[in-house]
Amino acid sequence: MSSASADSVRVHLRTYGCQMNVLDSQIITGLLETAGFSVVEDEAEADAFLFNTCSVRDLSERKVLGKLGQLRHARARRPELVFGVCGCMAELSGERLLHKNPHVDFVCGTNCRSHIPSLLVGALQRRLDIAHVTRHNACHLERLRGALASLLARIPPIETNCLIGTAIPEGLDERVARRPHPWHAYVEIMRGCSNFCSYCVVPYARGPEVSRPMDEILRELEQLAAAGCVEVTLLGQNVNSYGRDLEGRSRFALLLRRVSEIPGIRWVRFLTSNPYDISEELVETVASSPKICHQIHFPLQSGSDRILRAMNRKYTCAEYLEKVARIRSAVPDMAFSSDFIVGFPGETEEDFAATYAAMEQVKFANAFIFKYSARRGTAAAALPDDVPRHVKEARHQALLALQSKHTLLAHEAHVGSHVEVLVEGPSKRNPEMLQGRTSRFFNVIFPGQSWWAGTFRTVRVTHATPLALYAEPTA
Ligand code: 5AD
Ligand code: SF4
Repeated sequence: MSSASADSVRVHLRTYGCQMNVLDSQIITGLLETAGFSVVEDEAEADAFLFNTCSVRDLSERKVLGKLGQLRHARARRPELVFGVCGCMAELSGERLLHKNPHVDFVCGTNCRSHIPSLLVGALQRRLDIAHVTRHNACHLERLRGALASLLARIPPIETNCLIGTAIPEGLDERVARRPHPWHAYVEIMRGCSNFCSYCVVPYARGPEVSRPMDEILRELEQLAAAGCVEVTLLGQNVNSYGRDLEGRSRFALLLRRVSEIPGIRWVRFLTSNPYDISEELVETVASSPKICHQIHFPLQSGSDRILRAMNRKYTCAEYLEKVARIRSAVPDMAFSSDFIVGFPGETEEDFAATYAAMEQVKFANAFIFKYSARRGTAAAALPDDVPRHVKEARHQALLALQSKHTLLAHEAHVGSHVEVLVEGPSKRNPEMLQGRTSRFFNVIFPGQSWWAGTFRTVRVTHATPLALYAEPTA
């Protein structure tokens, strides 16, 4: 984020949710800065707040609503302050959100990111029209009016306060994204999802699956590599089906091979894989390309076939386990991670036991475990949310405990060995130490020099906890 320039409108952008939203926020930051706004980290400096929101679970929405509620008081003190909401909540419940939160100036859906600068200009114009000049704010309002005038010279304001509807074409050049570090990039290879898992809002919030043309992705990656990017994470809700909507042979395995050929890029990651779509060609590509990291996020969701069917997941637990075995036979040290939902409608003790058993069998390196929450508009929302809260909680805790045991096992297997890490910067828990990731995405903490950030280092693992590997640098 840039520091605020004295005469620009300062926007504080808060991001909730997944890596897709992190990348969307990097793109929005680029759009705003190109348009002449400053994006600021400090809330106290902000002239406008923009919330890039997530709707995937009830809790994600409550976090946003909580923060919006707190800021309502700031508006009472500063009538010129602008509040905008973009992302999944804006798309799914924008009108309701405006109605229930009258201090929100505009909502902007997931596929209208390019309109955000114009929406901000329109909202700021409206706010400044009604803000009264007092002894305390005269200077501030004058600065803001000047900043707005210079924006208006270039950006047509949008009068509407509600821009939603995933069909709006964008034609956005994603290369505007402002990434915090030159050495790593999230790169979107497709948007949306057409899978319609019965619990999931993503197909409604982000629209149908649309792949980016392969040449466009490769051009962006070549530019990133020329600017010093060494690690890339290719993003899509369901990357394995990349290219299904494109002409010709734009398949994910081919894209991975082409990305791996780009000079400078050393590590290639991808998120998220749907077990149903993993092909033999993909397994062979991962096994044969040394640049593709041995890490796969491969969400099982449930170990019960009955629940998987009700979730519309299109695979059985046995098929999933076969895929895991096939991948492990080609890539023995593959680190698997998964998402699980406990307490899906109708989940019995027996269903849950099947999930627990599948987890015990695979021994994931990492897993994200969620309590089911009904999402308006999804197929599962029509089913009774009948697993009592305390049962969901107990199942959640049981899976968390099992996963913690497996993560510790995976971590302990590294003790005494040398691992290569890409250094990310100071450790969040202990800023005296550095933090980095191995190719298999294990978190490593070690002492070193701050300028190592963005470089590869080999370290020796001395001990492990469920949270991290601890290491010392090698000579
Ligand atoms: N309730 C709980 N968890 C959910 N997820 C998606 N929708 C829901 C829901 N309604 C979880 C899935 C998905 C992850 C991103 O979020 O496990 O893989
Ligand atoms: Fe949601 Fe299923 Fe699409 Fe993943 S694959 S985003 S869980 S609908």
